[in-house]
Amino acid sequence: MISLRPIVLAAGLALSVPALATGEAAEGPAFDQKLAACAACHGENGAKPIMAEYPIIAGQYADYLASALRAYRDGRRNNAVMASQLLALQLSDSDIDRLADHFSKQASPLAVLKAR
Ligand code: HEC
Repeated sequence: MISLRPIVLAAGLALSVPALATGEAAEGPAFDQKLAACAACHGENGAKPIMAEYPIIAGQYADYLASALRAYRDGRRNNAVMASQLLALQLSDSDIDRLADHFSKQASPLAVLKAR
């Protein structure tokens, strides 16, 4: 069962920062709020998801993360939970690039498989 609390939280954040709903530019504190929204499900720094089914995003390639986020936003990748995040947080292209860059640089349990 997926908890709706983070979605409600994220929707509240978007409403409390109306300038972001229309603007492209991401401001410092507002960006921190977006990061906090991600952490509600993907865990601190994206490395410890709250549920086993939720992906680890820390340490993932930045271009993969950005591509996945754009796919959710543009409806090319269908997932109700993530699609609602993109909508509620009104992520701009620069937000997506910054989030992808941020999470790619976090310490992570992910590892590159070694060829045998
Ligand atoms: C309400 C919980 C929740 C929140 C909040 C949330 N996510 Fe997710 N996220 C998920 C789930 C569940 C999936 C798996 C969806 C799927 O199967 O496509 C996912 C998938 C992803 C993926 C794809 C990972 C992969 O390996 O393909 C990325 C990237 C991602 N989230 C980034 C973010 C970012 C950045 C934020 C903050 C802006 C965020 N998520 C907020 C639950 C959440």
